[in-house]
Amino acid sequence: MRVGTLLLVIGVVFAYECPKLNQLPDTCSCHETVHGLVVDCQDAPIPTIFQALKRKTVDIIRIVTCTEHSDGKKETTFSMFVRNMTIQRCDFDRIPPNLLEDVGTRLRYLNIERNNFTKFPHLGNLDILDTLEIGNNNLTKLTPTTFANLPRLKTLKMNNGSLTTFPTLAMKPLNGSLLILDISHNFFVDLSAITLPRFQLQKLDVSYNLLTSVKIPGFWQMTSLQELKLNNNKITEAVTLHSILTLKVLDLSGNQISRISHGFFNRATAVETLDVSSNTIVEIPNLTSLPNLTTINLDNNKVDSLGEGTFDANAKLSAISCRSNRISHISADTFTNANNSITVLFLNNNTITTIENGTFGMLHELTELGLSHNHQIEISNVSHPGLKKVFRLDIGSTNLKTLRKNDFDGMVKLEWLDVRNNSIERIEEGTFGERMGTILISVAQKRHSPTIPNIPLSPTSTTTALPPSTKQRP
Ligand SMILES: *[C@@H]1O[C@H](CO)[C@@H](O)[C@H](O)[C@H]1NC(C)=O
Ligand SMILES: *[C@@H]1O[C@H](CO)[C@@H](O)[C@H](O)[C@H]1NC(C)=O
Ligand SMILES: *[C@@H]1O[C@H](CO)[C@@H](O)[C@H](O)[C@H]1NC(C)=O
Ligand SMILES: *[C@@H]1O[C@H](CO)[C@@H](O)[C@H](O)[C@H]1NC(C)=O
Ligand SMILES: *[C@@H]1O[C@H](CO)[C@@H](O)[C@H](O)[C@H]1NC(C)=O
Ligand SMILES: *[C@@H]1O[C@H](CO)[C@@H](O)[C@H](O)[C@H]1NC(C)=O
Ligand SMILES: *[C@@H]1O[C@H](CO)[C@@H](O)[C@H](O)[C@H]1NC(C)=O
Ligand SMILES: *[C@@H]1O[C@H](CO)[C@@H](O)[C@H](O)[C@H]1NC(C)=O
Ligand SMILES: *[C@@H]1O[C@H](CO)[C@@H](O)[C@H](O)[C@H]1NC(C)=O
Ligand SMILES: *[C@@H]1O[C@H](CO)[C@@H](O)[C@H](O)[C@H]1NC(C)=O
Ligand SMILES: *[C@@H]1O[C@H](CO)[C@@H](O)[C@H](O)[C@H]1NC(C)=O
Ligand SMILES: *[C@@H]1O[C@H](CO)[C@@H](O)[C@H](O)[C@H]1NC(C)=O
Repeated sequence: MRVGTLLLVIGVVFAYECPKLNQLPDTCSCHETVHGLVVDCQDAPIPTIFQALKRKTVDIIRIVTCTEHSDGKKETTFSMFVRNMTIQRCDFDRIPPNLLEDVGTRLRYLNIERNNFTKFPHLGNLDILDTLEIGNNNLTKLTPTTFANLPRLKTLKMNNGSLTTFPTLAMKPLNGSLLILDISHNFFVDLSAITLPRFQLQKLDVSYNLLTSVKIPGFWQMTSLQELKLNNNKITEAVTLHSILTLKVLDLSGNQISRISHGFFNRATAVETLDVSSNTIVEIPNLTSLPNLTTINLDNNKVDSLGEGTFDANAKLSAISCRSNRISHISADTFTNANNSITVLFLNNNTITTIENGTFGMLHELTELGLSHNHQIEISNVSHPGLKKVFRLDIGSTNLKTLRKNDFDGMVKLEWLDVRNNSIERIEEGTFGERMGTILISVAQKRHSPTIPNIPLSPTSTTTALPPSTKQRP
């Protein structure tokens, strides 16, 4: 009895020890952790690695590029216990029979990206596999039984392949387990096969495919979906047939959407982050049914007006980006609800000629305002006593001629001001308070060089870039 226990202890200790010198190829490293070995190999022969790790408990093994691999002719039994295995760039086009079954009883994470699996390989029974990443293989074919033996799979990434369709009901075995599916960068035209009724999926990435329509029965009926990426397809119209009341993140950017159907958001009322940039949208859709909206990106569309009260119902909205559109006139009734959370507003690169006096007066939380690359801005119409928190203002390339003494009076927190590429001829004494940390300024013609009192200037430069996102401050 005691001998048995001792042998067991020795066995367990042995399983957690790196192989003796020279058993692993030189291009491998191995270290021991309480969870098992962590082995990292490059340019090494797989059979030698597996032989050296026989009966070991391996927490993580990562092999990138192999010099030779088991061709499957010889039935090999390696029987190690691996939790997390990555084998990339090894030119595998199939997996030798039993290989994974021998190493896979404890396998939870398997990454076989960047090999040559054009057909989905036979993985055997991987009873507790949680994550499978098989992207960048030029996968072209799935069969109805592809996923039959992966009962616990939660995350499946098959991005960047040549998939065009799913066999009907191929996903059925994963209903109930799968939470995250990434089939981005493939050639899907239709998704009806994955839209199982009440499919429990939480995140679906179908970006960079060839979808032309999302009018797919069942598609809008997934009852758990929280994140949906449909960007960079060929969708022309945003319509729903049913509701997804769990959806929080919706990315429709980079399509050809000119219209978002009336009532679209009545069926997706939980949306918090909405990206519809780089489409051909003319009219901002009715957003009143999105009480939790925090971020909206409308950049690169054909929006010609911000409308009146468009964002008034979105009390949690914090960032609005509407750059590179066709807005020329902004009404004083654009933002009329004092109870708003708008902190960032980007309207750069439009064709603005008029901002009515007081337009931004209700934006008490605003910290960042981008108005560069527009036709004409009058600072006194922008600046407002209500704008107490603005610390970053970009009004470069807006044909400003003069900066007056009281222009920035409302903005008591202003620290970063960009007035480059204007035709400023005169800056009145006292325009800039001492509080302003950074002023980027350049002048039209040297001979009109204005004198700027007591301000340390950043080097003058001209940039055409739109302002960086709020995270990247200079
Ligand atoms: C598995 O290991 C890889 C490194 O090879 C790591 O990036 C990944 O997060 C690990 N996954 C799990 C679930 O431990
Ligand atoms: C794997 O694919 C690469 C590039 O697609 C190719 O050069 C290589 O010959 C392929 N290897 C095998 C074993 O098919
Ligand atoms: C992917 O496979 C398809 C069909 O087998 C082939 O036409 C295509 O050239 C392959 N693409 C790459 C990048 O290897
Ligand atoms: C997709 O795969 C091709 C080669 O197969 C590669 O050149 C390309 O960078 C990959 N794209 C992504 C987004 O991974
Ligand atoms: C998927 O699972 C859900 C919940 O378990 C179930 O209601 C639904 O009928 C299943 N769908 C299919 C197609 O099996
Ligand atoms: C908005 O968020 C709150 C708090 O997270 C949640 O209780 C509410 O149901 C959400 N509203 C909608 C319409 O999803
Ligand atoms: C937006 O929709 C709400 C109801 O969902 C409606 O009361 C409101 O009038 C609509 N606004 C516009 C500008 O159509
Ligand atoms: C203001 O908006 C918040 C949500 O951000 C909400 O909880 C609160 O009730 C609103 N207050 C008024 C007076 O509408
Ligand atoms: C400004 O918008 C136009 C289209 O309105 C676009 O072609 C151009 O690239 C944009 N410029 C910048 C700097 O984004
Ligand atoms: C400034 O506001 C006034 C009053 O709202 C308006 O008539 C004028 O056109 C605005 N000027 C500019 C340049 O936007
Ligand atoms: C703009 O509004 C401010 C108060 O908000 C007012 O003092 C000023 O006279 C107005 N300017 C014009 C041109 O109406
Ligand atoms: C400078 O401003 C003019 C007119 O506003 C604009 O056409 C030009 O593109 C701007 N140049 C740069 C470098 O931003």
